[in-house]
Amino acid sequence: MQYVRRFALSFLLLATLSQLQAQNAKEANYDESKVPAYTLPDILKTTTNQDIRTKANWEKIRRPEIIKLFEDNVYGQMPKTFDRLTYSIKREDANAMAGKATLKEVLIEVVHHNQSVKINLVLFVPTKRKGPTPAFLLINNRGKDNTDPTRVHKSEFWPAEMVIDSGYAIAAFHVSDLAPDDTVQYVNGVLQLYPEQLTANNGMRAIGAWAWGASRVLDYLEKDATIDAKKVAIVGHSRGGKASLWAAAEDQRFAMCLSNCSGNTGAALSHRRFGETINRINTVFPHWFARKYKKFNNNEDALPLDQHMLLASIAPRPLYVTNASKDLWADPTGTFLSLKYAQKAYSLYGVEANLPVSPPAINQPISKSPLGYHNREGEHNLTAYDWSNFIQFAKVHYKK
Ligand code: GCU
Repeated sequence: MQYVRRFALSFLLLATLSQLQAQNAKEANYDESKVPAYTLPDILKTTTNQDIRTKANWEKIRRPEIIKLFEDNVYGQMPKTFDRLTYSIKREDANAMAGKATLKEVLIEVVHHNQSVKINLVLFVPTKRKGPTPAFLLINNRGKDNTDPTRVHKSEFWPAEMVIDSGYAIAAFHVSDLAPDDTVQYVNGVLQLYPEQLTANNGMRAIGAWAWGASRVLDYLEKDATIDAKKVAIVGHSRGGKASLWAAAEDQRFAMCLSNCSGNTGAALSHRRFGETINRINTVFPHWFARKYKKFNNNEDALPLDQHMLLASIAPRPLYVTNASKDLWADPTGTFLSLKYAQKAYSLYGVEANLPVSPPAINQPISKSPLGYHNREGEHNLTAYDWSNFIQFAKVHYKK
């Protein structure tokens, strides 16, 4: 009986999977020659056609306009006020990683209108340090065992030992503390603090909630004397990589942003029809973006923005984005182009990115430019290779 049930279940799963694949194949274009012509909004022209030529006007006019465009059309609003943030150190071990690091498990609690959200932070700080230490903060969208504080379970997704050996601190929180990654359960978290978001057309959803959580962790890190809070890099993979970009765009306290394989509605261009589409992402993950974003399903050309503008809004802070060679779903070429088009905003600060015209070869990282990039050989994932390049990028840019 059990065997029959298992068989029926696997059959159902297979059928659903192949249905999904068929739908993807129908929707997703993987043929470069079939990418239709498209026009991107100009980063340096306001919606009222005003040219932006100076850093001052970028900061005063265009950058806020871009953030508002993303709030209203894509990620939703980012509530900035709350009643109270408190934290407590649940566990501290000055002898973690055989004495190489201090472990802190911190519970951060944010209260607003008598509702609260609890964020569990895992933080390792190198024992040998000259003063407050720069840190990498990962938005963890995969299993919690990836950031195991006991280090019994080790994972390339969050290679804490490698980061500690490089002299940096490493931290992580899990997305489920802010908004469970589920079409129904996502409301159980940050959105309980801001219920008005649920009815607004431009209301925050899960990705906004994760980015909001990253800022609350930064609020804590600013109070931790072992951390150099002016050098906190926000890191995310895939859906977490979309959130890391949004966090860095909204919160200029993040010194650096590392966005791994973030793809559609992350670093990749949306007007360019290659790989995942807005219709697909909104259909399969209706809880990620503002309700208004669905208006652009099968209607990319109507978007008053594109993702190069999101990357530009991070200027002049160092930004590193990646792809994996087999992850065409996330459109490596469209990701590189998006980064390239963001250059104009960096130039306003006198920072020349000098990216090549076409994407670099596989496994050829660009790390000296403030707009860093690599296309790692292999599958959609966050690996030790990616992290070693993040560390290299941080070394180059924190030195400047
Ligand atoms: C799906 C989704 C992507 C997302 C990815 C992930 O593939 O379509 O947009 O980036 O999941 O988060 O791993």
